[in-house]
Amino acid sequence: MIFTEEMLASMKKVEAARAANIALEPRRMTAEEKDALLKKYHPDYRDDAFVTIRVGGNAGQKAPEELNAMLEGRPRVLDMDVDLKNVYYDVDVLVIGGGGAGSSAAIEAHEAGANVMIATKLRIGDANTMMAEGGIQAADKPNDSPARHYLDVMGGGHYCNRPELVKKLVTDGPGAIQWLNKLGVEFDKAEDGTMITTHGGGTSRKRMHAAADYSGAEIMRTLRDEVLNRGIPVVDFTAAIELILDEKGHAAGAVLLNMETGEVRVARAKCVILATGGAGRMHYQGFPTSNHYGATADGLVLAYRAGAKLLYQDTLQYHPTGVAFPKQIYGALVTEKVRSIGAKLINAEGECFMHPLETRDVAAASIIRECSDRGKGVHTGAGQAVWLDTPMIDAIHGPGTLEKRLPAMLRMYQKFGIDMRETPILVYPTLHYQNGGIEITVDGQSGVENLFVAGEAVGGIHGRNRLMGNSLLDIIVFGRNAGQQAAKKARGVTVGELSIEHAKRYQENLEKIGVKDQAASPKLLPDYTRKF
Ligand code: FUM
Repeated sequence: MIFTEEMLASMKKVEAARAANIALEPRRMTAEEKDALLKKYHPDYRDDAFVTIRVGGNAGQKAPEELNAMLEGRPRVLDMDVDLKNVYYDVDVLVIGGGGAGSSAAIEAHEAGANVMIATKLRIGDANTMMAEGGIQAADKPNDSPARHYLDVMGGGHYCNRPELVKKLVTDGPGAIQWLNKLGVEFDKAEDGTMITTHGGGTSRKRMHAAADYSGAEIMRTLRDEVLNRGIPVVDFTAAIELILDEKGHAAGAVLLNMETGEVRVARAKCVILATGGAGRMHYQGFPTSNHYGATADGLVLAYRAGAKLLYQDTLQYHPTGVAFPKQIYGALVTEKVRSIGAKLINAEGECFMHPLETRDVAAASIIRECSDRGKGVHTGAGQAVWLDTPMIDAIHGPGTLEKRLPAMLRMYQKFGIDMRETPILVYPTLHYQNGGIEITVDGQSGVENLFVAGEAVGGIHGRNRLMGNSLLDIIVFGRNAGQQAAKKARGVTVGELSIEHAKRYQENLEKIGVKDQAASPKLLPDYTRKF
């Protein structure tokens, strides 16, 4: 048995209270209670974890210190031999990033007749899209509407969301599901062929479409097939280390670094789409992460140096239920769907301490409070955690439900000798999503002409807190949009003289304010080397 004596004793309390906790209807917190909880316990409100940005368009605003270290890092390109006259790739549209947003963008740009290529730091599909589990929201049921979806997104985001971006997200949502369905995504369907949908935290209607608990992998599989079937060139293991601008300051390509050979290549493009994803591997505030290995905020740094502005770079999403035990999978995602289909969060005393479908920021803060001030966490060896009472699922819906709806998660735990149908699991918040990112207009363009952005690198769609399933939706809606808009724009673009002067000027500005001991920037990959 891998559980400690303390865990087993606490587990007995959870089992004893299970029937009562299933029957319990925990009340929702009031707006005032949520505000107070977030300010005291949510990591976004920890002043000591943020610093003030000193250079560029967001100077004076807050950023996580780890991100700021990259914004104040030394552009890698300055220490490399780059011959901008030696153009290796020459395309209409250069997509940087091979996840869901980048692939959707490339497919649509190709569909619009553009000569498009993808450059990706790892392989196509090595991205947070692949790790997404619970599903994709879209208001396509008779009792739902984009207007209701809009209100949920705005409420979840604390009304800080850019309204025009949310409008696009929700109105294009149903079409995005149809597009994926036609491409071949195997959504969960009832016998009559209608899609099965569930609730997520903060949703007023059941609009989460899923492929069991590997929705992202299924979507990514389909998008990757489509990219490859269309013959869109994919240059893998190749990171963008700087954007290239022309003499007008318009985006005109990127300097690419082959991660295996160290070779540097110049890619010229009429339009560039940044789809570089998130930042979980920056491990803000020392949190573990549910993110893919390549999630190091590269796009934010490149766009910022080129003159784009960031929005809400100081707000991160800590998924309430990261694996807290066993340590081999510490920080991995336990999908919100586990709570959507009935499991409740329970403390060490067997008490159900919150409604299971509060929004993510509130749920994460509530767990942190339980494990800190309230002293009702369970020791894991790596910290404290609370229980997610997974046996409730079969108790509510009948035997076999958990296995059918959460097959991947069941297998993940079984590998470590834990049967989540029989025993609850231990969870704690894990760094999951970058709510903020690069500011865009509704056509997907950043503040730099001909530089488009899609996916997790965008800021403003989700305000200060994203709801479950709206990320898979946004990578499709805004990925497709960026591809279409970039292809259209590229038709009228003549690329001027290639330049990386902006990176040199940025470095000079850093030196002027006395920045020293700069790390190489962007980060590209996390450093897990043990320091002796
Ligand atoms: O809990 C989850 O399955 C995560 C979904 C999301 O971040 O959208």
